[in-house]
Amino acid sequence: MMRVIATGKGGVGKTTLVSALCTLLARDGYKVLVFDTDPSMNLAMTLGIPFADIATLAEDKVEIGTKMEDHDFEIDVDGVIEEHSAVTADNVRVVLMGTIPSGGAGCLCSSISLVKVLVESFVLRPWEYDFIIVDSQAGPEILGRGLATRFECNLVVTEAMPKAMEVTRQVINLSKDLDIRKTILVLNKCEGEADLNRVSNELKVGPDCIKTIRNDDAVREADRLSIPILSIEPCPEAVTDIMRIKEELLGKGS
Ligand SMILES: Nc1ncnc2c1ncn2[C@@H]1O[C@H](COP(=O)(O)OP(=O)(O)O)[C@@H](O)[C@H]1O
Ligand SMILES: [Mg+2]
Repeated sequence: MMRVIATGKGGVGKTTLVSALCTLLARDGYKVLVFDTDPSMNLAMTLGIPFADIATLAEDKVEIGTKMEDHDFEIDVDGVIEEHSAVTADNVRVVLMGTIPSGGAGCLCSSISLVKVLVESFVLRPWEYDFIIVDSQAGPEILGRGLATRFECNLVVTEAMPKAMEVTRQVINLSKDLDIRKTILVLNKCEGEADLNRVSNELKVGPDCIKTIRNDDAVREADRLSIPILSIEPCPEAVTDIMRIKEELLGKGS
């Protein structure tokens, strides 16, 4: 089992990449569980899941906590996941953490802790899923929480822009504190070699160690039409780049 978290500044393409990756992995036959821990809940939409009817962990956290108390703090992981997820046509199970129910309703700490408990339970049952992927909220804060402690991989997504690269620098450093073994640095919306060199120089990472995804209008258009990028014809060229990232994740990358 490999646990992966996608991190980076808002808008760099984490959700787009995670949605395509989990679908490609599932099409290869891997068992994939993905958590949308971003309160914006974009992942389900990007995967084409009608999510309005799916119960979220955040809205049911009190009920889940009470059940745990009644059962000696044991949690029915499979039941909770089943009740708070949907399965895509490609067999990706997507769990919705949920969002803030009303203004002033407080933070999402307890919901993120619940996600941590659910994810960690699979360390004892690694045969259940080949990949557990967390599509996180923007910025470095998620790595301050310990949700991703000892995850196998941090998929750090950046653009060749100063503010995105600053967040990237932070998340790469925090990754080390959390003992995350592997970092895959992805330069998304890449316009060419100049972008690659800029990121390489700025972050002091060799260009060969940076995976690029080209800037692709077809990806943006798919988003505008709310269609998963793997469902549009012809397939966007950026998908070829995402396939290379999948190979890297599988340890087959160059
Ligand atoms: N390779 C790409 N080329 C062009 N647009 C992209 C690419 N990747 C992502 N985008 C667009 O960038 C925007 C933000 O992407 P998103 O995945 O929601 O970012 P994040 O999850 O990091 O906030 C979306 O409109 C998406 O379609
Ligand atoms: Mg997102």
